[in-house]
Amino acid sequence: MSNTAINPKPTLSVAVLSGKGGVGKTNLALNLGYALYKTGHKLLLMDFDIGLANIDVLMGLSPEKNLQDLFQPDTEASDVVYPIEENGFDFLPSASGVPELLEMDDDMREALFGKLNLTFNSYDYLFLDLGAGISQTVLSVASMSHMPILIVTPEPTSLTDSYAVIKVLNTQYGLTDFNVLVNQIDAANEGKLTFDRLNGACGRFLGIELNYLGGVHSDPSVPEAVRRQTPLMKFAPRCKAAQDILNAAVKIHRYRQNNEDRLKQEHVLRKIAAPQS
Ligand SMILES: Nc1ncnc2c1ncn2[C@@H]1O[C@H](COP(=O)(O)OP(=O)(O)OP(=O)(O)O)[C@@H](O)[C@H]1O
Ligand SMILES: [Mg+2]
Repeated sequence: MSNTAINPKPTLSVAVLSGKGGVGKTNLALNLGYALYKTGHKLLLMDFDIGLANIDVLMGLSPEKNLQDLFQPDTEASDVVYPIEENGFDFLPSASGVPELLEMDDDMREALFGKLNLTFNSYDYLFLDLGAGISQTVLSVASMSHMPILIVTPEPTSLTDSYAVIKVLNTQYGLTDFNVLVNQIDAANEGKLTFDRLNGACGRFLGIELNYLGGVHSDPSVPEAVRRQTPLMKFAPRCKAAQDILNAAVKIHRYRQNNEDRLKQEHVLRKIAAPQS
């Protein structure tokens, strides 16, 4: 290992985002995280959907403290990290109903992530569940992560909104590496067809190629797991959607392995590239 490694483990930061809302970001972030945890990795799931936080609801948890408390000088990272499962699957809750946090400025974000950096470093993966759309916070955090994953559904509105997010991140933040997971597919080939449509538009108009992480079937076990406030991967690990999620988790793990040397030289969350107009 190099003496100069600043992220020695290294921790891969994954931002889960989407154009349109309600496409499955939170469920997929939770269950991809659970799949990686179950295969022996340490993972921190951070709810960064400020204002509409709901990982805690999916888990049936009522955390006492959250992200907002970290702005208090006497609150440490360890005060806001809660175990979801023993030995390595932890959760950092976001704040709900705090409009002043919605448009966090760069200084606030830097203070927040500065306080969390050492904690981040102790995990193999940091997963960030972001809000839908193109708010400043979503764009900044997505551009700071090593691996932005766009959740897309086969609906035309999801495709056009996803293209809009990619376009802004590419043209204003200089991002070129995007990963796509197609959720709520009804047939095995629908994922690749949807991906090809989005990838084709990005190739033609932006000159970039997207990375396909696979498709996740529409599956009645997903809403059932939500109702039971239990991760799908725990409640129904053999259902179709769970198998698809496991396949995508393997690809994320491979990405971390393939980029290990580079990641060691980068902070878990990189500095934001200033938006260019
Ligand atoms: N593969 C799937 N099969 C069936 N239902 C699904 C699937 N994925 C997500 N859902 C359902 O879609 C709804 C929205 O999911 P989720 O809350 O994860 O989306 P989101 O993108 O995080 O939404 P928001 O933009 O509001 O944060 C949930 O009720 C969930 O049960
Ligand atoms: Mg969500």
